[in-house]
Amino acid sequence: VKTTVGILGAGQLGCMLASALHDLDAEVRFYDPDPRAPGMRRFAGGRVASFSDEGALSEHLRACDVVTVEMEHVDTAALRKIGARLVPSVDVIETAGSRRKEKAFLRARQLPHVAFATAHDVAELRAAVAEVGAPCIVKTSLGGYDGRGQWRIEVESAAATVIGAIGHALGERFSLTVEERVDLAQELSCIVARDGTSEVVFPLFENVHEAGVLDLTMLPARVDPRVAEAARDIALETARALDVKGLLAVEFFVLERPPARSPSHSVAGVHLCINELAPRPHNSGHVTRVATDVSQFDMLARVLLGVPLATPRLVDPGGWCMANLLGERFGADGALATTALGAAADGLCELVLYGKPTAVNGRKMGHLSTRGADVENARASARRLRDALTVTR
Ligand SMILES: Nc1ncnc2c1ncn2[C@@H]1O[C@H](COP(=O)(O)OP(=O)(O)O)[C@@H](O)[C@H]1O
Ligand SMILES: [Mg+2]
Repeated sequence: VKTTVGILGAGQLGCMLASALHDLDAEVRFYDPDPRAPGMRRFAGGRVASFSDEGALSEHLRACDVVTVEMEHVDTAALRKIGARLVPSVDVIETAGSRRKEKAFLRARQLPHVAFATAHDVAELRAAVAEVGAPCIVKTSLGGYDGRGQWRIEVESAAATVIGAIGHALGERFSLTVEERVDLAQELSCIVARDGTSEVVFPLFENVHEAGVLDLTMLPARVDPRVAEAARDIALETARALDVKGLLAVEFFVLERPPARSPSHSVAGVHLCINELAPRPHNSGHVTRVATDVSQFDMLARVLLGVPLATPRLVDPGGWCMANLLGERFGADGALATTALGAAADGLCELVLYGKPTAVNGRKMGHLSTRGADVENARASARRLRDALTVTR
């Protein structure tokens, strides 16, 4: 009999996972509050209901053999109440889904991270900002993504104004994490997969963010081999400490100077800190669809279906680049003028359009990946191809 896999969340990560699951002949059932979510439009049999609807959640879980998440912003209290057993576990989703819990976990396990303090009201926030000092970034503990739910305090003298604005926006009680703002030499990410018997680590990715949103991922990362090895070791250690089943993506900051008041890992003249964790497929991992012999989605499908894992390896010695396509490039109806690429499409390994119903600035609508003789070549063609995709609105 076929295995039925439930996916909580029906965005692009869920869709790409669903395709990988179909390749292994599994049935897929999405669950999402939004009837227009890509997974609901593209795959039959989805359930449209709130993540807090315990009745609908229980019913959905009963109809599936195994259930996973495509994002961590689910209602873990509701999942606990109905005794949900997910892959990854509700414990893992809860830790990675809350910046406060994630940071507390990193601190308790002495994993490298930037200095932080937490706050639940304006008085605590004032104390937290004073403790961490400027420059710092205030981040919501729950629900933030793509740089949303963040406030920057550049200088001490601006703190009172920003804190006032935060109090005005969030009310009297909230959960915030204040982080030291560090100077980034580079950003990296690493994806680990574990199935209870074996564990594998993907090659390290190098990421470039624009205004808090991932813009480009390059593979292989342009780092000293010792840095790559250290980052992969730390990612594996983190996944083991959390006892993740499924995927864990670990985002890293690379610093030229060690952070003043927090533990970092020094290697080959630079310093690594973990930024955040995601217990699911990760945007930076999209490049594995073309660059490694097993993609992040195929790997998670294997974990969910009990197919043995295999160490993912680069398919050839070249370089790859993944570029996100945000809403500003699309027509208001969510369409993209792909024919504009013309003969320029040489080097384009894949173009994936997520099928979101409306294009909003900053929203991830698709991505493209390129291959080149090396990473710089691949990045140049990713940028060129992306620029050729003209705005149709
Ligand atoms: N403490 C920090 N110091 C410097 N840059 C940061 C810091 N925190 C976040 N950033 C920048 O903002 C980006 C998004 O922040 P992140 O905490 O990863 O939020 P999100 O959950 O939205 O991805 C990071 O990838 C990095 O480029
Ligand atoms: Mg991030």
